[in-house]
Amino acid sequence: MIRLAKPWIGEDEQRAVAAVLESGQLVQGALVERFEQAVAALVGRKYAVAVSSGTAALQLALKVLSIGPGDEVLCPALSWPSPAHAVRVAGAKVQFVDVDADEWNSTEEALRAARTGETKAAIVIDQFGNPARAAAIREALGALPIIEDAACALGSHFANGPCGSLGKISCLSFHPRKILTTGEGGMCLTDDEDVAEKLRMLRNHGQLRGEFVVAAGNHRMTEIAAALGLAQLQRLDNIVARRRELAALYRELLADALRWQRSPVGAESNFQTFGVILPQGLDRNSVREKMGERGVEAGLLSFAIHKLGSFAGSNASMPIAEHVAARGLALPLFPQMRDAEAEEVARVLLGVLNE
Ligand SMILES: Cc1ncc(COP(=O)(O)O)c(C=O)c1O
Repeated sequence: MIRLAKPWIGEDEQRAVAAVLESGQLVQGALVERFEQAVAALVGRKYAVAVSSGTAALQLALKVLSIGPGDEVLCPALSWPSPAHAVRVAGAKVQFVDVDADEWNSTEEALRAARTGETKAAIVIDQFGNPARAAAIREALGALPIIEDAACALGSHFANGPCGSLGKISCLSFHPRKILTTGEGGMCLTDDEDVAEKLRMLRNHGQLRGEFVVAAGNHRMTEIAAALGLAQLQRLDNIVARRRELAALYRELLADALRWQRSPVGAESNFQTFGVILPQGLDRNSVREKMGERGVEAGLLSFAIHKLGSFAGSNASMPIAEHVAARGLALPLFPQMRDAEAEEVARVLLGVLNE
């Protein structure tokens, strides 16, 4: 079976984790700090605060921006539900924004149009690693704080800088489906010292300089995770380069048959996910089933979040998000995948489409 995704874990990762286990220092310490500094430097941000997941990063980001009941937050309708759920968990209202038909991200026009007098922040997603239109969005939103959900986008580039550099707070995920992994893990990036201090306080029981100043949870990263992350960082360039090669191969092999995600001019995706839109009339479940029988695991691409049970009662209509969620198929893509495997995926998919 050609799997949908597989993290690239080698001997370096195993040695790094074993060394932590031998040291007995398992919870947040020097390695977490080194990992934070390395990622901050990579993305060109002043501060990085490692946390236990990408979802925790989003939740803490909203908390630091004092988002709560009575507030609204703009949020793309097409995504894994984490960003919208985080807004709900904060007690605020999600103002869903549809996505662009080619880029599958919310554009500056859509974000501007969805903004109301109650809007206190915008979540901007670099979906599947595809960069949002950073410069235009920043200009369109003016002083409105942006939380960039760059969960999938480490190693991707806007036309004018790395993904992870857009938000007042930008959030990363290190889940195994992401570009590099720490098992579970996440990170907030910011240039604001005060924001960084609050994030550190909120991840650690609300402690500031030894005092418990607010009631907060435990969202720390372990040393085991940070050791894994530091070893994975050494591979980042190779991981991204290989993903780009495989995506280029898919585009060449599938060129006339299907639509996929486009990047804004000058921007470059890391292809955390390679998705295609199935033509109307084909039953996606049956396509997946047939591909599975022929040795290829294909996944559901994403969700129209406003249609999920967690937003039951929402009367939002987001036609493009609904279309991509209903027709989208994720194809296998992982850095150790061979060209022959990508060719096999394309052959099987085209075979199923032509039946
Ligand atoms: C766009 C986006 N945001 C946030 C998350 C949440 O990350 P985590 O699984 O680390 O909580 C994901 C995970 O799939 C995601 O795709």
